Amino acid sequence: MILVTGGAGYIGSHAAVELLENGYEIVILDSLANSSYESILRIKELTGRNFEFYEVDLLETEKVENLFRMHNIKAVMHFAGLKSVGESVSFPLDYYGNNIAGTLNLCKIMSRFNVRELVFSSSATVYRTIGNQALEESSSLGANNPYGRTKLVIEEMLHDLYRSDPFWKIVILRYFNPIGAHESGKIGEDPAGIPNNLMPYITQVAIGRRPVLQVFGEDYDTPDGTCIRDYIHISDLVKGHLKALEYLTGPPGIETFNLGTGKGYSVLDLVKEFSRASGIEIPYQVTDRREGDVPICYASAEKARNRLLWEAEKDLFEMCQDAWRWQAMNPYGYGVIKT
Ligand code: NAD
Ligand code: WQD
Repeated sequence: MILVTGGAGYIGSHAAVELLENGYEIVILDSLANSSYESILRIKELTGRNFEFYEVDLLETEKVENLFRMHNIKAVMHFAGLKSVGESVSFPLDYYGNNIAGTLNLCKIMSRFNVRELVFSSSATVYRTIGNQALEESSSLGANNPYGRTKLVIEEMLHDLYRSDPFWKIVILRYFNPIGAHESGKIGEDPAGIPNNLMPYITQVAIGRRPVLQVFGEDYDTPDGTCIRDYIHISDLVKGHLKALEYLTGPPGIETFNLGTGKGYSVLDLVKEFSRASGIEIPYQVTDRREGDVPICYASAEKARNRLLWEAEKDLFEMCQDAWRWQAMNPYGYGVIKT
């Protein structure tokens, strides 16, 4: 039995489907702080499989312990966390409290129940990105916002945990920019309020919920002046998690892997590819740079290819097609009308 924390969210829901479709038994824990119960129903509908769902916060120790008591958990895929960079600047204590204390609590409970297999969602935001180089797992680290710092602290905490008890098996996955949706269009990204991230903003412009996309700066030192990122299809990303689970069947240890494609595309590349995939022109206006954005960020995908035997397969066109299918089939996401 695999415990999926944050399994009602964007990445966790896709991972849950992938796990179920590959024959795993799962149980999902999510506080629904940034998601809705509808996604749980969709996972069940899509897979035809049943599982237990607990609307529980990781900080509710007794309830989490009960879950471990009731199910024979072998490993945990830990997605639960708050993820908005801007919000983390305004409410740093909420981020430290939720992400770090939540993970700390989870690890303590796992130890208590002798569950020592963990896949943790980290982020490319932990890298100190300088210049135009593929980021390797060994590249220098240094986050520039509270959200990123919570990921760095958790990574360090997991290393300390392994040093103290070498029976742990831990995989830290640093995601680059996950976009797109399950090819069925039944589950996808459903941000609350105004999207912070580029792809959901584009899809909301395409469906008519927002009038125009703001492109944050076109004076970067890149071929078209807009920032470059490593966008990765959510389906490829969650396949990487199954490879990580298989990796955990090996000897104890702690290992970190990038999950990216190794290719960078600019903001305008993505806008153009989205128009090609959807047939819809995306009106945009160039505005000032967004504080904290780095010009170029893309992965070296070598380590995951060599050690996890995983690599991303879907291209930017498929990412755009699938993101659009989800938005077109679900103009208001999971149904709650939001502005
Ligand atoms: P999401 O917000 O869609 O999903 C996170 C889920 O965790 C939500 O359903 C939320 O309700 C739940 N949650 C939050 N705090 C909780 C708590 N204390 N107890 C129980 N549930 C809680 O976000 P996502 O995009 O699916 O991200 C999943 C993980 O991946 C996060 O840890 C995030 O930081 C990390 N990550 C995301 C991205 C990205 O671009 N989406 C990139 C890198 C890393
Ligand atoms: C991509 C590019 C923007 C919105 C963030 C987090 C990171 C990780 C992934 C969790 C940038 C530009 C965006 C818009 C725009 N999440 N943009 N107009 O910033 O690379 O990474 O999500 O771990 O931690 O920081 O992704 O999608 O926000 O931006 O021009 O309305 O699109 O400037 O160049 P980012 P993003």
